[in-house]
Amino acid sequence: MNILLLGSGGREHALAYKMKQSSLCNELYIAPGNAGTSQCGTNVALLLNEFDTITQFCIDYQIGMVVVGPEEPLVKGIYDHLTSQPSLNNLMVIGPSAKAAQLEGSKSFSKEFMQRHHIPTAAYAEFNESSFDEGKQYIRKHTLPVVLKADGLAAGKGVVIASNHEEALQAFEEMIINKQFGSASAKVVIEEFLQGIELSLFVLTDGVDYKVIGHAKDYKRIGEGDTGLNTGGMGCVTPVPFADEAFLKKVEDQIVIPTIKGFEKEEMVYKGFVFIGLMNNNGEPFVIEYNCRMGDPETEVVIPRLKNDLVEMFIALHHGELASIQIEQDSRSVATIMAVSGGYPGDYQKGIEIDGLNKPTDNDVLIFHAGTSMQNNVVVTNGGRVLAVSAFGNNMQEAVGKAKTALQQIHFSEMYYRNDIGYEFE
Ligand code: AMP
Ligand code: GLY
Repeated sequence: MNILLLGSGGREHALAYKMKQSSLCNELYIAPGNAGTSQCGTNVALLLNEFDTITQFCIDYQIGMVVVGPEEPLVKGIYDHLTSQPSLNNLMVIGPSAKAAQLEGSKSFSKEFMQRHHIPTAAYAEFNESSFDEGKQYIRKHTLPVVLKADGLAAGKGVVIASNHEEALQAFEEMIINKQFGSASAKVVIEEFLQGIELSLFVLTDGVDYKVIGHAKDYKRIGEGDTGLNTGGMGCVTPVPFADEAFLKKVEDQIVIPTIKGFEKEEMVYKGFVFIGLMNNNGEPFVIEYNCRMGDPETEVVIPRLKNDLVEMFIALHHGELASIQIEQDSRSVATIMAVSGGYPGDYQKGIEIDGLNKPTDNDVLIFHAGTSMQNNVVVTNGGRVLAVSAFGNNMQEAVGKAKTALQQIHFSEMYYRNDIGYEFE
């Protein structure tokens, strides 16, 4: 079968690497891809929000399966668009419908979904321009810190954790009145701050059955010791020591099962990954957010650890046969460390030559490209997050150590990475 994978980050390189290993995968196309994905298949210059061009590509290249990496095309309805084309009636699309993708596309939608299905999450209220004054009153009385979330997609920048009321009121005004994120902040969710350690859990579902394919801890801040600005993710580890059997059982019973049952009850078509962002609050799990896709860089640790044939799983999912799949994971730990451009998550340069990509020879190391491209046959930087260097180890420390050793052999001007991934588990 020919497969089209949409996206261009480290997540997509990891998915491409995994799908290419399947005997069920014939031609693999990645749109638009990066210098790394071109080692797994053919990069094609398609724009992810041009659904008609993607449809035509699927017809022309006899695509049997489309796997959607990032959230934006999903929220914009790519699943519905592709599955409603008469000329593509056998096409398998891996991802949720637009309605189900609202779980990520609208914080308000996801909070209401959780309330309806009694899924543990932080207490909240929501406000818009017409209830702005009420919102200010609500904030003034709220315990601190208080969390403000722009309702819609805001490229990971829509959440403010305010430690005083003044800061919260300012952020609230910025979002609602000054339309900081345009229509994405026309509505704002104000919620209680949850103390604890975060965990990302990944579920593959056909909307009825599900399989938990792994979990990971993401390090979101730019600075060591979890300081400084938020990023898309600076590194990940899996498995995570506190996510023991008892905790994961609670997550499954209190969160995963009611979520999937909710899809069924509300007739939400969902044939893809659910990323559940959790807080472990004194041993009790709470949902911080749903994403309708895999995480990045979580994919770069969860996918290497997954032993199953991913394409076979996708086919089973499409036919509603996910229940027949037995998940198998490598018993070892996997860590990934993100090498980023100098200045990230602020401004940074692109087009800087990357040296040493072939130097690491350890078989336990996998170098996933996140933001790279080819320029005159040379791999250059093409984004803030540039490389996710993943490694297996008999324990987390060994995995992190191997990823670091590999990174020390790679260089680009102003390259930066966190040296402390996994630090709190030492
Ligand atoms: P989100 O965009 O919903 O993933 O939020 C971004 C980050 O803000 C999360 O990964 C958490 O670190 C933090 N966060 C969001 N909501 C809460 C909350 N209710 N309590 C504590 N931290 C939160
Ligand atoms: N690493 C967090 C995310 O993918 O949203």
